[in-house]
Amino acid sequence: MLSVALIVAGAGLYAMLGTMASPPAQRALMAGGSPGRSLTASAVVFAPPRPQDAPEDIREGVMLGYNILMDTQTYAKEYVGNQLNCRNCHFNAGRERNTLSLVGVAAKYPKYRKRRKYVTDLVTRTQGCFQRSMNGKTLPPEGRHMQAIMAYYHWISKGLPIYADIPWLGLKKLKSGHKPDQAKGREIFDQVCSRCHGPDGQGTEIAPPLWGPGSFNDGAGMHKMKNFSAFTHHFMPKNNPTLSVAQALDVAVYSTSQPRPHFDSGK
Ligand code: HEC
Ligand code: HEC
Repeated sequence: MLSVALIVAGAGLYAMLGTMASPPAQRALMAGGSPGRSLTASAVVFAPPRPQDAPEDIREGVMLGYNILMDTQTYAKEYVGNQLNCRNCHFNAGRERNTLSLVGVAAKYPKYRKRRKYVTDLVTRTQGCFQRSMNGKTLPPEGRHMQAIMAYYHWISKGLPIYADIPWLGLKKLKSGHKPDQAKGREIFDQVCSRCHGPDGQGTEIAPPLWGPGSFNDGAGMHKMKNFSAFTHHFMPKNNPTLSVAQALDVAVYSTSQPRPHFDSGK
């Protein structure tokens, strides 16, 4: 493994030296046709290492970060204001492909965010999910919890090149001319979702609440139609997504119209 990495790094260096020596190659590099491109493409492989395999000096932090994402109610309860855990939306603490994956986030930030009209780092991004998705409070940035979450993101992003195109990150939004229908959405909720999420959407032993006091607030990403519908179409019912695009839009407009906590930016 190590020798492969060295050979690859060596090839990159050789290409760079070659470039410096030859003007045509330099022009190709400036035009974007650099030999580095194929190197980047081949390096984007989905293979997050296990948290328990982190090097000894950071393992405790990586494990705490993993535990916070899996069981936020226990490991960061003082910062949470609802009944959710991060892994309810970022399945298996974001270590999967078919979810709101977090594998590679450490290679993607700082990133421009429309919400702030500025670049945002992972600490700020994570505070947003605590305040909105978890209807809770910000964490001290230099405290153990936030530092552990950062260590965890970095570990599961191991090997992914900085600012590579990582195809499994972000939600693939739905494209459709369908006009969402609340009444149909309610029927779909009753027939498909309620058996896990509860007849009134307030959650059960099996699945978390979709609205009501225990759910995400109206400032959360999931409160937006485009995110709720895409998440539902791609990932719900869990392990067996079956809804058409139109059905996902219908159930999303119904669910996001139900009462939920209000986002209070003063918290
Ligand atoms: C109710 C669902 C939900 C919960 C719970 C939730 N998130 Fe998120 N999270 C989202 C959505 C939706 C996005 C944005 C997806 C998009 O814009 O494409 C997101 C984005 C993120 C991102 C940025 C990912 C990227 O690719 O840029 C991070 C990091 C993150 N969440 C961390 C957390 C952490 C840590 C927790 C727990 C403290 C948490 N989230 C809880 C729904 C949730
Ligand atoms: C087989 C049970 C099951 C069914 C049916 C199901 N879900 Fe889920 N859903 C889950 C589980 C379990 C989670 C949390 C995943 C985790 O923690 O790993 C979840 C999470 C969610 C979330 C993110 C967390 C939250 O509470 O906001 C949304 C949104 C969601 N489901 C929407 C739906 C919708 C809409 C339907 C109906 C189309 C549906 N689900 C049907 C089991 C189910």
